[in-house]
Formats: sequence, C-alpha cells, structure tokens
Amino acid sequence: MRTSRRFFDMKQQSEKIAMLTAYDAPTARALAEGGVDVLLVGDSVGTNMLGYTSEREVTMDDIVHHVRAVRRGAPDMFIIGDLPYGAVATVALAVANAKRLVAAGADMVKFEGALPDVVRAIKAEGLKVCCHLGLEPQNHEEKRLKGKTAADARKLVDDARALDAAGQDMIVLELVPEEVADAITRAVKAPTIGIGAGRKTDGQVLVIVDVLGYTAASFKHNKRYADVGETMRQSARRYAEDVHAGAFPAEANAFRMPKDEREAFGA
Ligand code: KIV
Repeated sequence: MRTSRRFFDMKQQSEKIAMLTAYDAPTARALAEGGVDVLLVGDSVGTNMLGYTSEREVTMDDIVHHVRAVRRGAPDMFIIGDLPYGAVATVALAVANAKRLVAAGADMVKFEGALPDVVRAIKAEGLKVCCHLGLEPQNHEEKRLKGKTAADARKLVDDARALDAAGQDMIVLELVPEEVADAITRAVKAPTIGIGAGRKTDGQVLVIVDVLGYTAASFKHNKRYADVGETMRQSARRYAEDVHAGAFPAEANAFRMPKDEREAFGA
C-alpha cells in the first residue's frame, strides 16, 4: 500500500516499521518480496555503490537514476528518495528537487536538518516528507553520536517538535542515544525510524550493503544477516578458474547451428 497514512497507523498500534536502503531493481524486488515496509534510496548510494568518498558528491541525477531503478524493481513498494547535499539549499530548490524525485517514482522525499520551512513548502505542494536528525552525514564531518549532553538532547527534541508542527510525515533519527530517540518518539506524531538510535523508535532502517555484508566493515548499530562479499569473491574465483581451465562454457552452455545449416556453412 503506497500511502504514508499506514505508517502513522502502525505507530498508533505500536507496530514496528522495517525500512532498508535499496539502490537497484533486483535488490528492491528481493526486499519487497522479503516483507520490508519501506525502501529508502539514500544518498548512502554514493559511498556504498558509486565509489564516492563522501555523501556530498551525490547529485540529484544520481538519486533520480536510482529511484527509477528501485521503482522498476518494486512497483508496489513505498519508496523514499533522499535529497542529496545542496538539494535543499533554498526552499524553492528543495521544492523543485522534491518534485523531481516524486516524478522519478518516490512516494516521499527525505532531507537532513532542522528546516521546518522546507517541510512546509514541500507539504504545500501536496508531497510527503521525511526529516532526518541526529547524525546528518551531509552536514557533519565527524560520524559520531549526537545528543549525548542534556543540552544537545533537548535541542534535538525541540527540532523534532518543530518539524512535526510543520507537518513532517516521518523522521529518521541517526546515531543518537536510546533515551533521546525515545523522548522524540513520544514527543512527535510522525513515526520515528532509527539507525543507531536504540530500540524505542517506531521503526528501524539499515543500509542494505551492511545488512548483506558486502564489505568486512562492522558497525555497532548494524546487524549483518549475510556474507554477500564472500559469496561474490568465491563466485568470481570459481568462474575465473573455470574460464582459465576451459571448463566454462561447457557443451550445455553453447548454441549450435541446425545440422543442415552447419553442413552448408562448412563447419
Ligand atoms: O542515505 C541513507 O542511507 C540514510 C540512512 C542511513 C538513514 O540516510
């Protein structure tokens, strides 16, 4: 069901929301079939899939390209498109970029930072918006826990309340203490989705390459469910061995001409 109302209902009924990032069609299809509730085409695509060294290198064109791919793979899925660095530099730019992501197939757009004016402007166009507080990878150089002091925690709660009053439809809380995520979850109407924010949020999001174990990187907030990196290495090794040894392709993999054509061809 591609409506954000469902997530408010899930919050009301204390049903947890499962979100994962997705960047391509086959992964999106598998995650949809696996029962995930929401797919996020995050700007994490840059460092995880495109070989960039920073989220800041991700462009609107990158996100549009990947939103389209994810939509093709999961036509019925609720998809959030991430507004990359610089995309909300002005309210007018934020609205134009939000419309681009929705036209590409997103049901909701997400942006980082405490910008209630941006929420109001996007909502005024009839679009849905997810906010993002705590660690904001686009805006914070140091990737560390936010809201550790009482003053920082209070500021996060106040910012979340202001975004809620502006009409946010969802909010991601990244790398904040569980107590802070809990306070925000109780303070706002919108469903909260945590990543490294403990157990009390209305839902969770993880980055798909971390969940699948594409790399050996390990993060306290993550749970790895597979070792796809090792599967890929082993598959590549066995394929290369087969090709080098002449064991692939086998007769079963080859296409042959009809006998009469072969004879006419002189083969
Ligand atoms: O870009 C992303 O994947 C994100 C998640 C980490 C929430 O913003």
